[in-house]
Amino acid sequence: MSNLTVQDLPAVTTTPCTPGCRCSANEDELFAGSERAYDIVFKGTIDFFAVKAATDLGLFEAMGDGVHELNALAEATGTVPARLEKFLITLKEIGIARPIEGKWALTPFAIQFFTDPEHHRNLTMVPFVDYISSLVQTFYVNLADVVRGTMDFTSLVPYPPRNREDNVFYETIHRSNVHFPIRLLREHAKMQGITRLLDVGGGIGDISSALCEAFPELNVTLINLDSAVELVSENVASRGLSERITPLALDMYKEPYPQTQAVMFARILYPMNEQFSTMMLKKAFDALEPGGRVFILDMVISDPHKPNYDYLTHYICSIGMGFSVLEFKDHELYTKILEGIGFTDVTMNAAYDHVLYQAVKP
Ligand SMILES: C[S@@+](CC[C@H](N)C(=O)[O-])C[C@H]1O[C@@H](n2cnc3c(N)ncnc32)[C@H](O)[C@@H]1O
Repeated sequence: MSNLTVQDLPAVTTTPCTPGCRCSANEDELFAGSERAYDIVFKGTIDFFAVKAATDLGLFEAMGDGVHELNALAEATGTVPARLEKFLITLKEIGIARPIEGKWALTPFAIQFFTDPEHHRNLTMVPFVDYISSLVQTFYVNLADVVRGTMDFTSLVPYPPRNREDNVFYETIHRSNVHFPIRLLREHAKMQGITRLLDVGGGIGDISSALCEAFPELNVTLINLDSAVELVSENVASRGLSERITPLALDMYKEPYPQTQAVMFARILYPMNEQFSTMMLKKAFDALEPGGRVFILDMVISDPHKPNYDYLTHYICSIGMGFSVLEFKDHELYTKILEGIGFTDVTMNAAYDHVLYQAVKP
């Protein structure tokens, strides 16, 4: 046994740990760094794999939005009660489960993001958990080999999607985090007086539907792949908007856009480099009538203080692809691009980790 006391330990210094070492230089940096390093190694592992296990066990379904006895949950999930209890305690620590008078329930946060994906379809993590789980096994465990060049990335579902099933997969993912982009548009998009909007790469139509509900004069032509058009029609019909939202099969990269009063690129341009973004915005300019308006809604991918992990999951997969156009463009470039094309009145609103640029064709 050592007889050392705290006083015997070397005093904490604010200089590098050994002369010449280039690690964090002061205590504040060291503490911030240690929190970040712990998050990288421990938090990432526990957060994701606990959610994956709960999903694999059917625990989110079994718990639903009710309060349950441990033994009933163990029976429903085919688990050992004593082990399940420890797992539930882990889930409690990370904000997913909560004990209520000796029973167990999910937190409101977990109910929103991990249960009933159809009901929460514009703000749910369920499709992402399934997607990332399969990527973990097929791709992430082999990432070093991908970087070595001895393995490539193979998409689980073909992209671009080729048939209805492929489109269901991608559109389910796209619509799962569209709540806040819609909110930004509804709060700041100057759509009053616009009767004809072109929604380029408009997904399954949830954004256009929300805009039509907010702006009664609005009608939308929604551009998507041929194989997605049927899904869009079904979705807008289910919201009673078939008369106001018309899907159009058109290649948004290659073909010119029909003439219109406004063009929207919602989560289309963010990964494209300056040259590609300019090409797409020029197509919008050519389609717009004088006085027409362009809307660019992007997620922010270039904040040096807040890496965008959603985008990084795409970017990291692109390491294993032969060709990819993904970049980390700074959204501030849009002002220069838009003005260079001839747009005026450029404005920008930022909220909810997204930005909305708007400009007018003179
Ligand atoms: C990233 S999603 C964005 C969807 C929607 N705007 C949103 O923010 O949720 C891209 C959309 O573009 C569509 N798309 C992909 N390639 C396309 C192409 N060449 N022409 C037209 N649409 C395309 C996809 O099917 C999908 O709906």
